Amino acid sequence: MLFAVFQLPCLLIGLNVVLGTQLASAKIPNIVFIITDDQDLHLDSLEYMPRVQKYLTNEGTFYKRHYCTVALCCPSRVNLWTGKAAHNTNVTDVLPPYGGYPKFVNRGYNTDYLPVWLQKAGYNTYYTGKLFNSHTIENYNNPVAGGFTGSDFLLDPYTYSYYNASLSRNGEKPISYPGQYSPDVVAEKAFGFLEEAISDEKPFFLAIAPIAPHSDVQMGKHQFSEPKYAPRHAHLFKDYKIPRTKNFNPDMPSGANWIAKLPQLNDTVIEYNDEFGRARLRALQSVDEMVEGVVQRLTDNGILDYTYIFYTSDNGFHISQHRMHPGKTCGYETDINIPLIVRGPGVGVGKVLDAVTSHTDLAPTLLKIAGAELRDDFDGLPIPFTEEEKSKTEHVNVEYWGRGIPEGKYGSEGGGGFTIYANNTYKALRLIGDTYNLYYSVWCTNETELYDMTRDPDQMHNLAVPEQLSSEYKISGRNIRDVVARLDALMMVLKSCKASSCTDPWKVLHPQGDVSDLPSALSSRLDNFYEQQPKVSFSKCELGFIVESEGPQIPFVFGQGANHGGFPWQESSENQNPLGYRQDWSIWT
Ligand SMILES: *[C@@H]1O[C@H](CO)[C@@H](O)[C@H](O)[C@H]1NC(C)=O
Ligand SMILES: *[C@@H]1O[C@H](CO)[C@@H](O)[C@H](O)[C@H]1NC(C)=O
Ligand SMILES: *[C@@H]1O[C@H](CO)[C@@H](O)[C@H](O)[C@H]1NC(C)=O
Ligand SMILES: *[C@@H]1O[C@H](CO)[C@@H](O)[C@H](O)[C@H]1NC(C)=O
Ligand SMILES: *[C@@H]1O[C@H](CO)[C@@H](O)[C@H](O)[C@H]1NC(C)=O
Repeated sequence: MLFAVFQLPCLLIGLNVVLGTQLASAKIPNIVFIITDDQDLHLDSLEYMPRVQKYLTNEGTFYKRHYCTVALCCPSRVNLWTGKAAHNTNVTDVLPPYGGYPKFVNRGYNTDYLPVWLQKAGYNTYYTGKLFNSHTIENYNNPVAGGFTGSDFLLDPYTYSYYNASLSRNGEKPISYPGQYSPDVVAEKAFGFLEEAISDEKPFFLAIAPIAPHSDVQMGKHQFSEPKYAPRHAHLFKDYKIPRTKNFNPDMPSGANWIAKLPQLNDTVIEYNDEFGRARLRALQSVDEMVEGVVQRLTDNGILDYTYIFYTSDNGFHISQHRMHPGKTCGYETDINIPLIVRGPGVGVGKVLDAVTSHTDLAPTLLKIAGAELRDDFDGLPIPFTEEEKSKTEHVNVEYWGRGIPEGKYGSEGGGGFTIYANNTYKALRLIGDTYNLYYSVWCTNETELYDMTRDPDQMHNLAVPEQLSSEYKISGRNIRDVVARLDALMMVLKSCKASSCTDPWKVLHPQGDVSDLPSALSSRLDNFYEQQPKVSFSKCELGFIVESEGPQIPFVFGQGANHGGFPWQESSENQNPLGYRQDWSIWT
């Protein structure tokens, strides 16, 4: 007894510590997910967001090799919220028939995407801001976006009206906010939902999707103007200039296809473009303040330690690189390598990870955090949170269907609205390992691009042109031609991959598992196998995913079949007809 009494305080303290940590770790974490619109990494926007740095970058992990898989808002967001590649969702554009909210609904995702899964996992789910394009003041309740405990969505055609937003709360009739700054309106709504979420027992997921720093678009005008900012930020960044990298408005044309035909931008345009960049940074200040507001509220309620905060963008942005007007839609690094910062339980503090990750991986990551089972049809894998967790992969599969869209005053010149570059459909591949860092793309015109991103991060020297292909240039000790043969075969797998063939594409080519990255595929014993592979090509530039126009679909498999050491790959019969599509849904109503 005496013994017990003496031991008790000690025991209790010990127990307390054990129980305390167990309780903390057993507590299901909350998730705040912030997604901006068209925010770049390469124009240095994050460096102008001091609160994002203070509360997120310094307290969490920055993923320097994070990529979107489609450089366009709506397809990218559908990719993110479903965990599926755009070629599997077939939501490939901002508008019907190839994309937009109606297409998302039509494809059955409104009852089968992340917020729905999180609710099933016991979460309260909230969303404010822009969900998808073509989510309008007419179709907002037909049906209401699924899976949310609380929602307040920005709606077209006012989504990009910085001072005349229109939002529908919980499926109710839209309310207009004339004269109020849209990112501030969204911030206030986010704080409201946060309060609501905190007052309930359940863990919560809150997505905050302000439009900054997207261009301003006024109803009725087909013009993308520089973003508007709040008056309190007008004095900022007067000296900012877009980084003068080698690809900044170069003297010689660069890129391929329509980009290689662009005239050099004159001083008037460059001056305008720098100011365009400043306007973007100012618009982002409202988001920066919102981040502080969120962290403050989590802190005040004592829940910051078991809340994950994600910060990312739907896609990147270019301004003047490769002589382009402001815009996205391209496969170049400015458009696809985007911000991702994560803080939360078990995430490295003040770390930079070089793991190769993409938006396809985020739904699996969030479900894993929620303690839910991952889905068999995910095309990605949870991202690592620390250096120690094994980095999953070397590749990112990038795709695009449709047009190139120049923005800004000068991008809008010509022909009664904005000039649109046709033939912007392409496939691209980022492949990054210890000894190689490559970008490979095949356009719908059959033009190809290959950049050695270690030596040429600005993508100025296309190695996939005839004179380079036969040059002495070596990548991982092999000629360009041999490297391209491997990349093309990998792209052949990825362009129609599903689930494990997306996460482990080499396994499709080499089912025995002896080849699992570029260096092992580059073995000269495989030269013949790769040379014989059908090549990625297009017969036509389409505005959507018309499989008949996209050339061969199936690579040869090593070790099967006779003369070329390969055999056409067949995963399952489902793979042959991957997408059922209900043609009868009336989209614009
Ligand atoms: C602002 O939005 C409302 C609809 O929400 C619309 O009726 C009105 O015309 C818009 N005002 C301007 C100046 O565009
Ligand atoms: C510069 O280029 C823009 C866009 O093409 C054009 O509108 C403008 O007139 C040009 N300015 C000068 C000074 O040439
Ligand atoms: C691309 O190449 C393929 C295979 O050589 C050919 O069938 C197709 O017509 C070409 N497409 C275009 C747009 O030139
Ligand atoms: C688009 O590509 C097609 C080949 O698919 C070509 O015939 C046409 O000239 C191209 N159009 C433009 C505007 O570059
Ligand atoms: C994608 O959707 C478009 C538009 O409905 C359709 O024409 C196309 O066949 C679909 N693609 C696939 C691969 O199902």
